[in-house]
Amino acid sequence: ATYALILAGGSGTRFWPLSRNTRPKQLLQLFGDDTLLEQTIRRLEGLVPLENILILTNSQQEAGVREVASMLPAENIFAEPAKRDTAPAVALGIGLVAARDPDATMMVLPADQLIQDVEAYHSVMRDAISAAEHSDGLVTIGIRPTWPCPSYGYIERGDRASIPGVELEHKPREVKRFREKPAPELAEQFLTHGGFSWNAGMFVWSLPTVIRELAKHSPELARFISEMRGSSDIAATVAAQFPKLTPISIDYALMEKAARVLNIEATFDWDDVGSWLSVANYLEKSGEHNRVNQPITELESENNIVFNARKGSRIALLGVDDLIVVQTEDALLIANRHQADGIKKLVDLLPPEL
Ligand code: GDD
Ligand code: MG
Repeated sequence: ATYALILAGGSGTRFWPLSRNTRPKQLLQLFGDDTLLEQTIRRLEGLVPLENILILTNSQQEAGVREVASMLPAENIFAEPAKRDTAPAVALGIGLVAARDPDATMMVLPADQLIQDVEAYHSVMRDAISAAEHSDGLVTIGIRPTWPCPSYGYIERGDRASIPGVELEHKPREVKRFREKPAPELAEQFLTHGGFSWNAGMFVWSLPTVIRELAKHSPELARFISEMRGSSDIAATVAAQFPKLTPISIDYALMEKAARVLNIEATFDWDDVGSWLSVANYLEKSGEHNRVNQPITELESENNIVFNARKGSRIALLGVDDLIVVQTEDALLIANRHQADGIKKLVDLLPPEL
């Protein structure tokens, strides 16, 4: 059977004051009423049945995740006992899926991306599932890069992959190398060189394949999975063993090292929504040059991004340019839009209750 594991335990501070520890990017109503997590679940309709969708999160976000994912069986939502980054989370997900079907094909999906063309998404993911089922490869989805972003993984696409027995519309390529978060100069070389895709952070593999690769490249995680599989009380095993695992992302722990990685290029739109600047692309225009989530009053003000989440309040701008203004019930952010990435550093200075 096909399973989807949604990773929804990342913390994000770039959307403060809207985002908080209990409410990171995937739980925010940035684009109307639906959160990105809810969209991620709905996008699987017709591809993976609800009972085969699992979500991993952490205890701080668990309540928020359960609220959004109320269409899933309650036992499909699992809070990790400690924060250990994505490789241990994926291993935990592999153990949970293996307990249901040891031969399953499994998709791993981030909870916090914006993808709107569901038809194209299904078409690509169906082929990714077939490629994973008929080969010994770990399948990744590639995005055509538009700038040398240093916070993505880069995939060098090689020859057309030969996968006997299947005819796919979206042809997979062998991956020559997988490089997670290269230094800016290296990312620039990749773009100049050509032939590289961004890693979308979505993976598709069969359980036997991924377990075999983990045994080679991450014995610690392979051992954890087999402990889960041999356990009569999985929850107790996870509570005891998971916190001991080394924090590392799946990109470094597995994808950079795996023997055979295949890549299918996405034909759907993809936005990782990294900051208020990306959100602004989807907000309404106000006047000539401002972007807003609800009406503002403005005079001689340009290039501002205004997000007001405080009901019944109004924001007015006079003679200011290039600002990010975000208002919530208990906080107000006024930032230079050229420093959207600095919000992270600002949040470190805040009192813990915010
Ligand atoms: N359950 C769980 N536990 N989920 C986690 C954890 C964790 O400890 N840490 C992160 N996540 C979730 C995030 O919520 C997100 O949905 C997903 O896992 C990916 O984690 P990020 O922290 O957002 O990773 P990244 O953006 O630095 O890099 C990854 O995504 C890029 C594309 O967006 C990598 O796969 C890159 O190679 C890729 O380009
Ligand atoms: Mg991310």
